Amino acid sequence: MNIKNVVVIGSGTMGSGIAAQLCNANIPVTLLDLKTEISEKAKKRIFESKPPLLIDKSKIDNIKTGNVKENIDVVGTADWVIEAIIEKINIKHDLYEKILKVRKKDSIISSNTSTIPLKVLSAKMSDGDKRDFCITHFFNPVRYMGLLEIVNENINDSKKINLLKSFCEENLGKGAILCKDTPGFIGNRVGVYAMQVAMTEAIKMKLNIEEADAIFGKPMGIPKTGVFGLYDLIGLDLMNDVLKSFLRELPSSDVFHDVAKELPLVKNLIESGYTGRKGKGGFYRINKKEGKKILEAINLDNREYFPSKKIDLNIEEKVSLKELVSRNDKYGKYAWSVISKIILYAASLIPSVTKDYNNIDEAMRLGFNWTKGPFEMLEELGVKFFVEKDNNLKINEFIKKLYQKKSNTFYGSRQIYTDLETLGKIKQIAKIKNDNKSAITYECSNYKIVEFNTKANTLDSDSMDALKKATDKNLIVINEGMQFSAGVNLNYVMEFAKEKNWKAIEKFLHHFQMTCKQLKYSENLVISAPSGLALGGGFEVLIQSDYVVAHTNITLGLVETLVGLIPAGGGCKEMLWRWMQTEETKKDPDFAPQKVFDIIGYAKTATSPIEAIPFKFLLAKDKSIMNRDKLLPVSQDLIAKIKDKHKSPQPPIFKLSGSQVRDKMFQTLENLFKEKKILEHGMEVGKKLAFVLSGGNTNINKELSEDDLYALELEAFIQLIQMEKTQARIKHTLNTGKPLIN
Ligand code: NAI
Repeated sequence: MNIKNVVVIGSGTMGSGIAAQLCNANIPVTLLDLKTEISEKAKKRIFESKPPLLIDKSKIDNIKTGNVKENIDVVGTADWVIEAIIEKINIKHDLYEKILKVRKKDSIISSNTSTIPLKVLSAKMSDGDKRDFCITHFFNPVRYMGLLEIVNENINDSKKINLLKSFCEENLGKGAILCKDTPGFIGNRVGVYAMQVAMTEAIKMKLNIEEADAIFGKPMGIPKTGVFGLYDLIGLDLMNDVLKSFLRELPSSDVFHDVAKELPLVKNLIESGYTGRKGKGGFYRINKKEGKKILEAINLDNREYFPSKKIDLNIEEKVSLKELVSRNDKYGKYAWSVISKIILYAASLIPSVTKDYNNIDEAMRLGFNWTKGPFEMLEELGVKFFVEKDNNLKINEFIKKLYQKKSNTFYGSRQIYTDLETLGKIKQIAKIKNDNKSAITYECSNYKIVEFNTKANTLDSDSMDALKKATDKNLIVINEGMQFSAGVNLNYVMEFAKEKNWKAIEKFLHHFQMTCKQLKYSENLVISAPSGLALGGGFEVLIQSDYVVAHTNITLGLVETLVGLIPAGGGCKEMLWRWMQTEETKKDPDFAPQKVFDIIGYAKTATSPIEAIPFKFLLAKDKSIMNRDKLLPVSQDLIAKIKDKHKSPQPPIFKLSGSQVRDKMFQTLENLFKEKKILEHGMEVGKKLAFVLSGGNTNINKELSEDDLYALELEAFIQLIQMEKTQARIKHTLNTGKPLIN
């Protein structure tokens, strides 16, 4: 059987997210709820969601709506029925009875429950129905979270489960991990335990919440929401329900009980409406004082809020775990206490929860966005170090066996949940060819890989060195981190700006431009395979590659104007060239510069490859891939198919009308200024952009080369970075992570 038609029942957070992802996969889906009004509202929410749940909003009508009373018959047409209703067993049982009466023979039925065991859900079913019933546990937000846990039992039709698994991998782009029917499955069992440990240890060790989040965050390879920030995001009330269910399901001998007791502070917060971001606030809250929004953090002792402070851990960006846990201060002690407990707990779950420790690591990566799971942390620390560091550690069987082997490394293959030849697997076996502080180059048989390796993969001179050197072979630019690249490293540029060392900035930009030129004209193929953010300089790298193999979850665009700059790595030039190939530009040569002025001036972005096409951020030859694990294999295939046919492109010749089109752009700026949509500095930035895109001092009969355009970009950038207002904007962005509006 094939999955061609799906019904999702329950149109809340999860049901609507799942329906949207099916819609993204071009699968017709019907979303049912108690009333059609509710599912209609959910459809509207999907359409308006931010970040968007849909990769192509024009497909919204692939989602039909209805209600369970009048439209249950639609279940009879579905190959897969997903239940995502309220977490109440009696209501779920009633619904299953209705579904099973009308379902198509051989269809798959699944529940999205996060806490109810499979055997309890299916208790009233016949063996025939049990064969086709499983749990498909998606994570929120469904489009963006990689993990899908498929919980099944011996009674299940294994062929069908495997079919479902490949469907979810291929079509829904999920890392689908098969799980046993144990409480919380894999992700939440370890993830929620980790959160509880991080929270209870912080309280025990008298760390304030910002300190705990600063440690149980980036230095451990955990998202910067940390523990208290994540609690607020999930919702204190939802976490409370999840904990209660764990306490109910797990034997009292399980150490989960030690960390999951309800805290009076949390109870008090929930009762007073402080349920997290969806409520009045939680551990953090936004308070308005004198018209200004201020982030406040709670004092765990007295429940009072105070303005949140940035914690300086005095840590290098790439601190090793060993260094972190060896620190002789409260931060080191906290880190060790938390990490050691998480590793021990994860190890205690083998083999009862999963026989493959690797699955635990992958569940933490895909479901909680950790960069490494507990076993990779153990590998990094070294088994001997881990066991011998602390005499009080109660070592369990799994760790004992590793220790007795006397080998400090034990880690086997990665990403065993999939047969795909993923980046994670290839990196393990590929030779590291070059390694600088900003990028790693791997050498494979007929291609190289460059992986950026900085915070948010921002780019500097070292990143360019790595790219340039790697073009002596076919090249794939790809990374395991969340972002392809958030752009040029502004800290790096600001260091020079502080010293007024404009020459150094000029040198760097020239290096950037010549590297991108090399990517474009190299005899070898260059493929960029982005996911996450590919902004500014990151975007310039990918549009000057031969092909882009893009994950569907990407954000692309040239956003330099937000910080008072303009793209100077070839972004203006390349976008201009793309728009010059259009019919409109053939009729009116000013069309392309004006169009690009609009796109770059407003810092427009696309949030999927489909949205990227109308901007010409991507072209029809580029590829859009649902499953992030497939970015590398698809890029490899592309190399194999076209490497012999590949020819470097012809260098473009630009004919631009100079002041003729520039005057039109200036007029647009004047109007925006009059309407108070931009301020004086915005005008300045707009004018510099206009100068570049109009070709500078040129006219329509003059021919400009690619280098002429690069030179214009560079000159404008240098003029802008010298402005105090631009520097102030950059500083604001670096401090807050957000651009200054106006
Ligand atoms: P929700 O409360 O947002 O939505 C539940 C929806 O089900 C509501 O629209 C409600 O009207 C509808 N509903 C209730 N009874 C119904 C019935 N008899 N027939 C049809 N519709 C009915 O809940 P949410 O968060 O979407 O959770 C749904 C399921 O997914 C639960 O089992 C939950 O444990 C699980 N889950 C939730 C996650 C989350 O982050 N919210 C994550 C993973 C799983």
